[in-house]
Amino acid sequence: MTGRDGGATHIARFRPTDDDEALDLERRCPQGRKLRLSFRRESFQLRSRSFSEWAIWTARDRGRLVGITASAIKPAELFGRRIRAGFAYDLRVDPDYRGQGIARRLMSVAHEWAFERAELGYTYTVADNRAAEHLISDFGADRSGSYEYLIAPACRELPCGDASTIPPEVAHQRHLDREGPFDFYTPPDWDRMRTGHVRSWLVGKGPDSASCSAWDNSAILGETIEAVPLSVQTARLASRLPLLRLRSWPHFPRAGEAIRSWYLFDVTAASSAAAWTLARAVAREAMECGVNWLYWIAPDDVSWKEAVLADAPRLATLRVRYLRMLQHRDSPAQVIGKSYVDVRDV
Ligand SMILES: CC(C)(COP(=O)(O)OP(=O)(O)OC[C@H]1O[C@@H](n2cnc3c(N)ncnc32)[C@H](O)[C@@H]1OP(=O)(O)O)[C@@H](O)C(=O)NCCC(=O)NCCS
Repeated sequence: MTGRDGGATHIARFRPTDDDEALDLERRCPQGRKLRLSFRRESFQLRSRSFSEWAIWTARDRGRLVGITASAIKPAELFGRRIRAGFAYDLRVDPDYRGQGIARRLMSVAHEWAFERAELGYTYTVADNRAAEHLISDFGADRSGSYEYLIAPACRELPCGDASTIPPEVAHQRHLDREGPFDFYTPPDWDRMRTGHVRSWLVGKGPDSASCSAWDNSAILGETIEAVPLSVQTARLASRLPLLRLRSWPHFPRAGEAIRSWYLFDVTAASSAAAWTLARAVAREAMECGVNWLYWIAPDDVSWKEAVLADAPRLATLRVRYLRMLQHRDSPAQVIGKSYVDVRDV
């Protein structure tokens, strides 16, 4: 396909020698509006390696790497039926080369590759990324649900009860038992997920229990703050006023800082009280590990959202919505409702 660049951009499969340029390109492609983040990772392929089948493509203009994208093929279940799903991610175009159809050309190659191998394709985009949503819908994908990051700083010195460590597989099964069944589900591949998994916790018993797992994305897709919302800037300034210093404040990040965060996934809670106890246990351990920012992955319709944010200062709490864009290769049999959020996809 020839884009508005007149086809001058050369699209090719990623080679390991592209790595430095790809990482440099990524640093120049921040995302988000109020909370604006740029990404750092050890190797561009690291995220892809958490999947078993994947491909990355680059776009070069006169030798310079100006665009990149990736796709993975994952085993999935659609209404309980085993299928293969294509997941698209890591689309970036050099700011100096935008609006020339480079993303469209990269996506076209990735789209063809995925639909030769899978019967369903999906991706996520932050809800205010108009360019990405426009482009993805043009390829035939529609909005199909969403999830929110509930982003809260970990707070110090809050009393909390005991939490026990459980294997991630057990936390996942608890999540499936309580939150499932899912219309669309992609099972985790634990052997490939050891790089990111930190720990899984269980608090309470029976009807008053809650559990989740933590994921550290710093090596895979570490985030650096480019801009924080005014509310967080205000909270940071307030925490430095002499009178208010008496209070125990959480850490408020500022522009230029690499975020030390955990993503909390497979979260399930039988009650608000159990969710609150879990959130305190996770926050305490995060602080002990030098992690000061928690991202709770909250799919639509979960009941524990307010409880996990209960202790976080309002000014410093953010909610960022991501849209799931999904496309069937053949005509869809049923509309997809409830879907599982795989932490490798976020
Ligand atoms: C999103 C991104 C990849 C688009 O790259 P690009 O090469 O400029 O895109 P293209 O030139 O192929 O244009 C794609 C379409 O998006 C449209 N578009 C671009 N900016 C837009 C905006 N702000 N609002 C709405 N549409 C927009 C273009 O007009 C074009 O549509 P058209 O062909 O119907 O005119 C690029 O902006 C980027 O790298 N952003 C940062 C990383 C990112 O957000 N990645 C996507 C994560 S899901």
